[in-house]
This record gives sequence, structure tokens and C-alpha cells, in this order.
Amino acid sequence: MPRHPDVPAYAPDIYSTQAVLDPYPHYAKLRELGPVVWLPKHKVYALPRYAECKAVLLNDKTFTSGEGVALNSLTNRFSRGTTLNSDGEDHTGRRALVAHRLTPRALRTMKEAVECQAAEIVDAALARRDVDGVDIAEALPTAVVPDLVGWPQEQRKNLLSWGAATFDVLGPLNARAAAATFRGLGVMRFARGVVRRRSILPGSMGDDLLRAADEGKIARSECPALMIDYLVPSLDTTLSAIASALHLFATHPGQWQLLKNDPGLIPNAINEIVRYESPLRAFSRKVAEDTVLAGTALPAGSRVLVLYASANRDALEWENPDTFDIRRDASRQLGFGRGTHGCAGQGLARLEVQAILQALVARVEKIVPTGEPEWGLNNIIRRLHRLPLELVPA
Ligand code: HEM
Repeated sequence: MPRHPDVPAYAPDIYSTQAVLDPYPHYAKLRELGPVVWLPKHKVYALPRYAECKAVLLNDKTFTSGEGVALNSLTNRFSRGTTLNSDGEDHTGRRALVAHRLTPRALRTMKEAVECQAAEIVDAALARRDVDGVDIAEALPTAVVPDLVGWPQEQRKNLLSWGAATFDVLGPLNARAAAATFRGLGVMRFARGVVRRRSILPGSMGDDLLRAADEGKIARSECPALMIDYLVPSLDTTLSAIASALHLFATHPGQWQLLKNDPGLIPNAINEIVRYESPLRAFSRKVAEDTVLAGTALPAGSRVLVLYASANRDALEWENPDTFDIRRDASRQLGFGRGTHGCAGQGLARLEVQAILQALVARVEKIVPTGEPEWGLNNIIRRLHRLPLELVPA
């Protein structure tokens, strides 16, 4: 798809190892270039600013997901049949199948159990005192979500690696995505087997899907993709937010004191964490009909890249966007997306992050960095890979 001659172009690869590890200077240059910027390497119109990202997310008729949200056609073909990759009635129907599991009322029934698990995780970490914050971050999502989805006990050790791979293949078809393809197919093969053997945990979300198939509401062949749809986006994303929270409070002790003095700030702190270190870098949309965005003509068939992480640092929208401040109103951040595809699991993610922060606030005086953090390499997820910390008990 050739670019329009008036659209500025940005040649560096924003999915290179360097850019994945240090993305913010690239986002700043993109925002400076304009509201719509052509990325020649990926043949996509990038949207680095807040207003255009929000407008596109709210207009799912023109900017569609049904032909995939990845930056490569292979994944877009393979991931058909998921909630994420569907439009209109197909999308509404798929989302409704399991959405009742994630409503505020349904989540209230899980709240106590999640808070108990979070308290145990923080107590165990405090007993060690010197910890890798990533271990704390992994513990809660991997304890909560597989049971909710109904994933059998076997192969749970693979879920994190499968989850990361499934995100990697949603980027461009670079070496990272190619290396992840085999693992990505592994999760699909396993999910098919789970559906075939009906080894799903009774009373779970996966069980609901199989019942819907029994009743003829969906085809049985749709069940594996739909199970993955809810499992995969729920681990790495939440893990990323919890690890970033630990990192941010360790490196901003004043903000930690503010939170300790007023735990009522936790819900807003979660928005600020997701704004400041958005777990999901970007997804794309296909342009369904010729349209104009911020004065730029976008032809039908082209793709736009919604850069959630850049929108959340846009100075046209946020005062001092590169400052982490849990007192700012961060509720309009786009880290959970927006509109019809807005994150279906954000209530659960918020519940998990809230439970961990509550447990930390009650038990930990200071979070002290004890070594250099390491960021992981993934095309879509920004998450810490290693986070050495000391937890000083209150
Ligand atoms: C901090 C944690 C999380 C973040 C930052 C996050 C972020 C996002 C974003 C940005 C989208 C929008 C995708 C789009 O625009 O196309 C999304 C969609 C989605 N998320 Fe999350 N997510 C998180 C946690 C979860 C959890 C815990 C679950 C499941 C229990 C989940 C399930 C989903 C699903 C199913 C969709 C697709 C919704 C649709 O297409 O209608 N997410 N998420």
C-alpha cells in the first residue's frame, strides 16, 4: 500500500530490539512528525497521538478488526474466530458468551479469594526480603486466570511462554515473531486437544463455551480460539502492570509514601501505571472505506497502527506526560483500549493489581531497587524480565 505523498514518514523500525527496549524516544519523534505517520518498514500508518488513537478505537465501522489486528497477514489469517479479531454481530456474540464472567458482580465473588492469594504472595516475598519483582508479578495472574478460564492442570507451566509467543506473533513478521510461531501453534494444538477431550474445569468460562457449542449457539471448532482469546491476553498484560507498579514505586519513593498515606489512591494509581508503562504497545486496524483522519486521506484497504503506549505519553493530552504521578486524573488513559474492543478483562486486571498493591501497602515500608532492571523483548508486550528488589517490612 503506497503512502500518500503528504504524509510524513519515519524510517526507523519501531520493532527493532533497540526500540522495543527503549520505545519512548521513538514515540516522541513520531508525535512530533504529526498525527498520522507512515512507517515504510511495516507499510502502515502509525497514530502516535492520543486524539487519533481514541477516534479510531471509537469508530469500529471504518477501522475494523475482523481482518486482524496484527501487523502481519499470517497471524491475521490464523487468528480469525476470536473476539479480538471480529466485527459487528460476530464480535458482540463472541464477547457475550463469556462477558458475564467478568462483570463487576461476577468479580465481586472472586474478590476475597484474590485478596487472600495476593496477601500470601506478598508475605512469602517479605519472608525472602530480597526478591525478583517479576516473580511477585507472575504469581497472582497465573494463580487466578487459568482456573477462571478452566484450563486443565496439565501444561500450565507452558502458559506464560505460550502467552508471550501469542503476543509476539501479533507484531510484524520479524525474527521475534518467526521464532514465536512454533510456540504460538503449540497453544492452539493444546487448546484443540482440551476441547476434544473435554478436559476443561467444570463451572469455568471454557465450560460455558462448550455448553454454548452443545446448544448449537457456536460451532465446537470455535471453542479453542475463544478459550485462548481469554487466557492469553490475561497473563502477560497483568503481569506487566504489576511488575511495572513495583518498579515505579521502587524508583519513585515519594509516590510510594503518597500511596501508603492514602490507599484510596490505589484505583487511580492503577490507571497511572497503565498510562505510564502501557503493557500493550500497539494493535492495528484495517481501513474499511476511504476516509480522512486528522486531515490525512486514508485509502480503503490500508492499515493504521493504534499506538496506545504513545497516546498515553502525548503532551497534547497530558500535562508533563513523562512524569509518574498517581495524583493526576489518569482515568482516560488508553492502555485498556476503548470502544467496542476495549479490554474485556480490565475489571479482573484491576482487581488483581489492586489486591497486590493493597497487600504491599499494608506490609511494606519501602521498596528498594537492588540492581538494574531488565526489560523483556516482545513485539507487543512491554514488560520487565528481571526486577531485583528489597522489600523492607513495615
Ligand atoms: C493490565 C492488564 C491488561 C491490559 C493493559 C489489557 C489491554 C487490552 C487492550 C489494549 C485491549 C484492546 C484491544 C484492541 O483495541 O483491539 C484488550 C482487549 C482484550 N482483553 Fe485485555 N488487557 C489486560 C488484561 C486482560 C485480562 C485479565 C483479560 C481476561 C480475563 C483480558 C481479555 C481481553 C480480551 C478478551 C480482549 C478483546 C476484547 C474485544 O475484542 O472485544 N485482558 N486488552
